[in-house]
Amino acid sequence: MSEVVAERTQVAILGAGPAGLLLSHLLHQEGIDSVVVEARDQEYVQARVRAGVVEHGAADILRDAGVGEGLDRDGIPHEGIELRFDGESHRIPMSDLTGRHITVYGQQKVVRDLTERRLADGGKIRFACGPAQIHDVDGDEPSVTYTVDGRRHRIVADFVAGCDGAHGSGRTALGATPVEKVYPFAWLGILARAAPRIEELVYANHERGFALYSMRSAEVSRLYLQVPASDRLEDWPDERIWSELAVRFSLGGEPWEPTRGEIFERSIAPLHSYVGEPLQRGRLFLAGDAAHIVPPTGAKGMNLAIRDVSILAPALAAQLRHGYEHDLRSYSARTLDHVWRVEYFSWWMTTMLHRFGEDAFNRRVQIAQLRSVVGSRAHSTALAEAYVG
Ligand code: FAD
Ligand code: DHB
Repeated sequence: MSEVVAERTQVAILGAGPAGLLLSHLLHQEGIDSVVVEARDQEYVQARVRAGVVEHGAADILRDAGVGEGLDRDGIPHEGIELRFDGESHRIPMSDLTGRHITVYGQQKVVRDLTERRLADGGKIRFACGPAQIHDVDGDEPSVTYTVDGRRHRIVADFVAGCDGAHGSGRTALGATPVEKVYPFAWLGILARAAPRIEELVYANHERGFALYSMRSAEVSRLYLQVPASDRLEDWPDERIWSELAVRFSLGGEPWEPTRGEIFERSIAPLHSYVGEPLQRGRLFLAGDAAHIVPPTGAKGMNLAIRDVSILAPALAAQLRHGYEHDLRSYSARTLDHVWRVEYFSWWMTTMLHRFGEDAFNRRVQIAQLRSVVGSRAHSTALAEAYVG
């Protein structure tokens, strides 16, 4: 076996996504040492295009942690969303209904801001480690290992945080029983160099399937189409994407075209719901996508990750600084309560807005549901409260 490079820290964190980076930052503010181990290189992590909506509560968490400057400077506040169905447009005035709003700010920017801040504060982020492994979580000296250039590294810690997403080692080491649901469709997502034709996000239920019109800036549009889970990017040449979007966003029976522009990023992501319960085992704690997945309808994935670690960080600090165990022991129960409400909201939005085969009954119920939501202040408020977070 090659040489082992050993290191000791209080919290070893797997994954430099929003969950791992924010956890490391919050722990630093509490005077707790951590090392973040990330499988991919820094460039890859910061270029990875994903979520775009920061809910009110998550924005407050970032601001309170002193990492909300970029969000407040470059984020685009949104006070409402549009629901489009049956060729009609209906606005949900979220801020009027709740006094809160969301901010459109790409996940890469959140990751960039957190990375820069950690590095400026002398934080330890080990990029390009390949997939790290977790050991001995049931004992007093859990550890994380990884191999770079043939050298084996070992980090011994008081606690390990699995913030390594849906395909990381955290889930395997936890060994929880998953509760999950797989949807028979995926989202094709694009980024286009095109000024958005909209001021607020449009969620469209069309008989051909769901479509979503979002944005990243005054020059960049973000658009999504529901596609069969088996579709590949080759099935969707540019012209097909634009014409399908125009049909699904139809108003008054007429196609309604988003502004077109060069498509410079595209991906297909399957939709599923997943919770691995409980979120802790021995000295291992899971947060973010490692712990749970929501379908993207309603934009909750990154927000949940941010919220999880805002609970985990003070609980770890209370234990490490004062030997106070209660908050850490109750982390899973306290987090899961909120997680399941968000699972419910994301499932509800997904089932209300997507096409599920040829089921005529299902479709009529969807339209009735949407009419109830837009026709009743109480229903609109329920959606808005869950959406803004
Ligand atoms: P991640 O951001 O996944 O970070 C985990 C990190 O761990 C990664 O950097 C990974 O490289 C690293 N890692 C993995 N395994 C290991 C290992 N063994 N050792 C070390 N490091 C490891 N949400 C929305 O709200 N809207 C969207 O439009 C949206 N689009 C998405 C598209 C895709 C393709 C995916 C995968 C997710 C999307 N999400 C979306 C969800 C949202 O992006 C996630 O909820 C969010 O990234 C969760 O943050 P995280 O820090 O928990 O996990
Ligand atoms: C975006 C993604 C979502 O899942 C959503 O519900 C709204 C917006 C986005 O990427 O902008």
